Amino acid sequence: MSEIRIQNLQKRFADFTAVRGSSLVLESGKFVVLLGPSGCGKTTTLRMIAGLEYPTGGTITLDGQDVTYLRPRERDIAMVFQLFALYPHMGVRGNLEFPLRNEGVPRAEIHRRVEEVAAILRIEHLLDSRVTGLAGGDRQRVALGRAIVRQPKAFLMDEPLGTLDAEFRELMCVELRKLHDRLKTTTVFVTHDQNEAMALADHIVVMNQGEILQADDPHGIYSFPSCLFVAKFIGRPPMNLLNVEAPVARGDNQVRMARRNIAVPATEAAAAAVVLGVRPEHVRLLGADQGALGGRVQHVEYFGSHWVAEVQTEAGPVKVLADKSARPVLEERVGLDFDTRHVVLFDAATELLLPSVTTIAHQPSMRHG
Ligand SMILES: Nc1ncnc2c1ncn2[C@@H]1O[C@H](COP(=O)(O)OP(=O)(O)OP(=O)(O)O)[C@@H](O)[C@H]1O
Ligand SMILES: [Mg+2]
Repeated sequence: MSEIRIQNLQKRFADFTAVRGSSLVLESGKFVVLLGPSGCGKTTTLRMIAGLEYPTGGTITLDGQDVTYLRPRERDIAMVFQLFALYPHMGVRGNLEFPLRNEGVPRAEIHRRVEEVAAILRIEHLLDSRVTGLAGGDRQRVALGRAIVRQPKAFLMDEPLGTLDAEFRELMCVELRKLHDRLKTTTVFVTHDQNEAMALADHIVVMNQGEILQADDPHGIYSFPSCLFVAKFIGRPPMNLLNVEAPVARGDNQVRMARRNIAVPATEAAAAAVVLGVRPEHVRLLGADQGALGGRVQHVEYFGSHWVAEVQTEAGPVKVLADKSARPVLEERVGLDFDTRHVVLFDAATELLLPSVTTIAHQPSMRHG
């Protein structure tokens, strides 16, 4: 078990700043996902934790020990590079032994650890098989075994599922998460795929342009995005974002939109220009002339378990997620209502979440600064 703390971590490449003063506490035993678009600094952050890159500012500690400038081998953290490339000329046992032989671990200890890992992954019966010819699921387990046999204090993984096809990726997500639940080794996993992040993470750290925008559990990230960027980045279909017409004062529990008053959770701050955010599953379809906004159904997509309809309203297009029974009809005039408890507001100038009675009641489950 081990806790990783990064404090005001910074990385400059010549005059370009790739990581801008990140501070985070990666709690012992948690599966933490660094999520963000290409170029936001995920790999650079991970490489600094691994010791493959040295920061130009800030510190990294592992269980209280400053490891900022230690070489990779001197910190007990395993970077898992290629999770799925097995050595075809070696058997299962050879593949599992390889990382330990490389480290000069004594023979008896290698034998003990390989047997232990094989038992954890339920592949004892395959130890003397060749890897070529193994079924897909067994190959995955051998590959995972090779990563965990070193028993490091933490695992670092940089888009390890990136090259796999969708079906295999989903399977691997499940295997990885099950394994984590068993071993509880602190894991930092990089991806730009929000589905992967949601499926795997205890905590998600959303980054953009070298900055940490939010760090929380998946529910917190999804329900209370810290800013417009996170609101747009997380969730498919995305959160509806609508411009509010009048300034908002502290304590307001209604906002003005399309000449109507829309109920919102009471705000804890004022803002001159405001954006209202509501997720498609928190919008209800009603009959024409009912509800908070009116409009016409422009587009309907069927997903088997539900529909997603786009309604053109006086305030702009709004996506609605409706269950099967309420099939929206194209071109139909409808009314829309928002589930007030799930409405969030953003300050349009700063693009930050505007605190309200619901957002301040939520305690983020991860610390960052
Ligand atoms: N050695 C380097 N020299 C100069 N610039 C670099 C170097 N390594 C990374 N960068 C730049 O730093 C920024 C962050 O890169 P990084 O690889 O951390 O992004 P990322 O979030 O992992 O992106 P991706 O999703 O594409 O892998 C990018 O703009 C990249 O071009
Ligand atoms: Mg990267």
